[in-house]
Amino acid sequence: MRLMAVDFGDKRTGLAICDAAEMLATPYEVITTSNIDYCIQQIIRLAENEHVEGFVVGLPLHMDGSQHGRAFQTRQWGDRLVEQSGKPVYYADERLSSSAAERMFPAGVLTRKGKKKRLDAVAAAVILESFLEYKRQYLQKPKQPEHIQIFSQITAWAKAAADHFAQAARQAIAQRGIFSAALSGGKTPVMFFDALAELAGLTADDWRRIRLFWVDERFVPSDSPDSNFWLAREHLISKVPIPDENVFRIKTEKSDVSAVANDYQATLRTIFGIKEYEYPVFDWVGLGLGQDGHIASLLPGTLAVWITGRLTYAVRWQPRGLDRVTLTAPVLQNARQIVMLIHGQEKAAIVRAIFNQMPDPAVYPVFVLWPVLNKIVWLLDQPAASLIGGWS
Ligand code: 6PG
Repeated sequence: MRLMAVDFGDKRTGLAICDAAEMLATPYEVITTSNIDYCIQQIIRLAENEHVEGFVVGLPLHMDGSQHGRAFQTRQWGDRLVEQSGKPVYYADERLSSSAAERMFPAGVLTRKGKKKRLDAVAAAVILESFLEYKRQYLQKPKQPEHIQIFSQITAWAKAAADHFAQAARQAIAQRGIFSAALSGGKTPVMFFDALAELAGLTADDWRRIRLFWVDERFVPSDSPDSNFWLAREHLISKVPIPDENVFRIKTEKSDVSAVANDYQATLRTIFGIKEYEYPVFDWVGLGLGQDGHIASLLPGTLAVWITGRLTYAVRWQPRGLDRVTLTAPVLQNARQIVMLIHGQEKAAIVRAIFNQMPDPAVYPVFVLWPVLNKIVWLLDQPAASLIGGWS
C-alpha cells in the first residue's frame, strides 16, 4: 500500500512517502504555511500526484502516551484529510520522531532555516518508518481473542449477556456510584434486553444509578420500529424502573443527521463532564457484528471508520440504507468493558473471517477494536461459533 506520512506543524508540515512494497521511498516534501486549509489542499494534491492510498499522521502525545488538546487537534485535522481526500488515515506516535530525525539527519551545509525544513521531512519519514514496523509486527497476522464464551442454547447466551451487564453494573455502582452503558440495535439484542429486564436481578436502587446511552441510531423518529431506542424501550426500558432522566437516547428529531450527531456529542461532553479533547469512558459497551464486519455504524467503505477527532459521526448511508449516527472508534475503544454479542448461523462466516485475517479496518471495521482486543468479551452461541474451529 502506498502511504504518505504527515507531520503536521504550526508553520511547516513534513511529508514522507513509501512505495507500494512499503519500503520508505524518501522524506518527501515540506509544506510551509500556517493556514491549515491550504496545507490540507496541498497534501491532497501531492497525494493524488503520487497515487497515495492512505495517510499516516503523526500524533503528539504526552510522554506517558496519553492524549492532550494538541493531539485531539491533530485528529481533527486528520478528520478533514479523511473527509476531503476520501482516504483512510492511520495514526502513529510521533513522540520520538524529532530526536530520531535529528540522529538520522545527514551532515551537510545548510542554513538554520534549511535545516529545520529538512528535519520536518525526515521526522515524517521516521513516523512512517515506525508505523510500517508496527504494521509488519502486528497488523500482518491474525490476532485471536482471549475472552471467548460459546453457549449451546440461545437462552443461556442471553442470560450470560444479561448477567455480564448486571455484574458490571453492580461493580461500577459499588466503586463509582454510577454505571454508564451504551447499547446497540439490530436484531441481536432482543433476547439480551428481555433477559436483562426479567432475569438479571437488578434492583430499583441499581436502576436509579444506571445511565443508558446508544452506540448508534438510525435517522428515523424514535417511535419507528427501525429505531434502536424504540427496540430498547419495547424490550427493556418499559419493563424496568429506570428513571427517564437516566436515558440518553440519540435525539433524531432534527432535520439534519449531522445536527443530530453534534447534539449527541454535546450531550456526552456534558453528562460525562469531559473536556473538548477527551473521550467519555463508558463502563460497558455492547456491540453486535454485521455480516459485513461492521460494528456500531462504522460501515465498510464509509469515512466513519477513520474519524477520530469527534465523539460521534453522521453516517450518510442512503440510498443503501438509513442514514445513521454513531459513536466513533476511539470512544468505543475507550470503554472499560466491551462485549461483542453475536448469535445465529448467519454470523458464522464473518466470525471465522475476522479471527483469521490481517486486522485491516478498511476490510472489516470491527478491526478498529484490535488495539484493545484484550478487553473485549465475546459471547457467541454455537451456530455463530460453528466455523471457528479452524483457527490458524
Ligand atoms: C444497528 C447496529 C449495528 C448492529 C449490527 C448487527 O443499528 O444496526 O447497532 O451495529 O449491531 O448491524 O445487526 P444485527 O443484530 O441485526 O445482526
